[in-house]
Amino acid sequence: MSKTAPQIPLPFLKLRKRDAEPLFLQLYGQIKQAIFSGQLKEGERLPATRALAAELEISRNSVFQAFEQLILEGFLEGRKGDGTYVCAKIGIVPARTPKVEETPGTEEYIPDFSIEPLLPFQSSIPSFAHFPFKTWAGIAADVYRNIHSLHLGYGDTQGYAPLRNELADYLRINRSIICSPEQILIVSGSRQAINLSAQLLIKKGDQCWMEDPGYRGASMAIERWGGRVCPVPLTQYGLDIDHAIKTYPAATFAYVTPSHQYPMGGTLPLAERLKLLQWAAKQKMWIVEDDYDSEFRYNGRPVPALKGLDDAGQVIYTGTFSKVLFPALRLGYMVLPTLEMARRFRMLKTTIDRENPVIDQAIITRFMREGHFARHLRKMRILYKKLQDELTALIGKHLHPWLEVEPGDSGMHITGWLKKDMLAADVEKAAGKQGLILQPVDDFSIKYGHPKGLMFGFTGYPVEDMEKAVLQLKQILINLQP
Ligand SMILES: Cc1ncc(COP(=O)(O)O)c(C=O)c1O
Repeated sequence: MSKTAPQIPLPFLKLRKRDAEPLFLQLYGQIKQAIFSGQLKEGERLPATRALAAELEISRNSVFQAFEQLILEGFLEGRKGDGTYVCAKIGIVPARTPKVEETPGTEEYIPDFSIEPLLPFQSSIPSFAHFPFKTWAGIAADVYRNIHSLHLGYGDTQGYAPLRNELADYLRINRSIICSPEQILIVSGSRQAINLSAQLLIKKGDQCWMEDPGYRGASMAIERWGGRVCPVPLTQYGLDIDHAIKTYPAATFAYVTPSHQYPMGGTLPLAERLKLLQWAAKQKMWIVEDDYDSEFRYNGRPVPALKGLDDAGQVIYTGTFSKVLFPALRLGYMVLPTLEMARRFRMLKTTIDRENPVIDQAIITRFMREGHFARHLRKMRILYKKLQDELTALIGKHLHPWLEVEPGDSGMHITGWLKKDMLAADVEKAAGKQGLILQPVDDFSIKYGHPKGLMFGFTGYPVEDMEKAVLQLKQILINLQP
């Protein structure tokens, strides 16, 4: 590994001086991307801040800010008196193919079997057509060729250790969660994570804060294990914490989607997060943080997980492979605050179903370790943003007097609001007859209704079907007009 700082600054750095995005953020993003793609390798030294600033013709402060953030997130490390290096142990193995194609759809992703496209506007399902099945199948074949008895017998309930190692790195780098692989439990989806949490942590009659509207998988789990679902309305950011504290101060359990409220889409700002954590620490209230699709953020920087700020150890974190890979894997993961809690959760899971399929976990491990996961995410982020923009524009163009959408900056659906005297449930029914899947927001409401809200997914069906579907919906809305 080179000990000398590169004389010529890195050629892949191309800052757009007139761009609205601040220069330090551009620099931060481009260095991070270069690490993921292997253009910058682990242990490599970066140019001195002064030299880099001069070469890029930006202020030294911008370089400092970018480096500082990357150091904070564990991508770079400053060695005293010796400059700044790419961290030696990030655990990113660059993709084997050096050329990274950024435009989705141009790489041959088409598997040998046919993929039935989903119907517009089905939400919460990733694009199967853009999943790299060839790569996946290649890894799977390799895993089977080198099959080990460890993959075939009864394994560790906690999950395949190499996958937990990958996840610990992934969570540290991408979600600002510092945890050991021993705190991670592999589960069959977030749904199981939420159920295990409810079963272990809720006592009969306990008050449980629940986002309203919110994920039904969570309210069902709370009820199933004897908790009292306490519906908390939302602000534009997510859970209305002041309301929750005032109305249900005795709550012992809370379910939240702070990075991207489901289904309304808000993101809890830092001050709200801190308020929630302080309250939880004071009251000894458990928080289940469902981080189901935080990877798909299109504007600005990804918001670190609530768990990353959880000094008191009250947050149980859960993530899933359902959105970033595909739901049929039925694999997710949780991070428990302590090893003792990890042991209790593992024991409970042992009594239910033991470990999840180890071969799938081994395939995911390789998929992550070889850089395919990061690349797939990056491509899907670009694709989904394009699809979201397209759908927002089409709705604006064709459905204007009847329906308005709020532009989202993350996720896999946008929410539209009926403007005329119409109800989402009626539109859902009429659209369903024509093969359009529109889910009313109220499918997720408990006490606080939103009868005019409809969810529009944009990730799972072909972009070519979008305009036709929007025009179909326009006709439906005209026909439904009172
Ligand atoms: C809010 C929320 N959490 C979690 C999930 C995913 O759950 P699982 O990991 O069990 O597939 C979904 C899926 O639609 C969801 O909407």
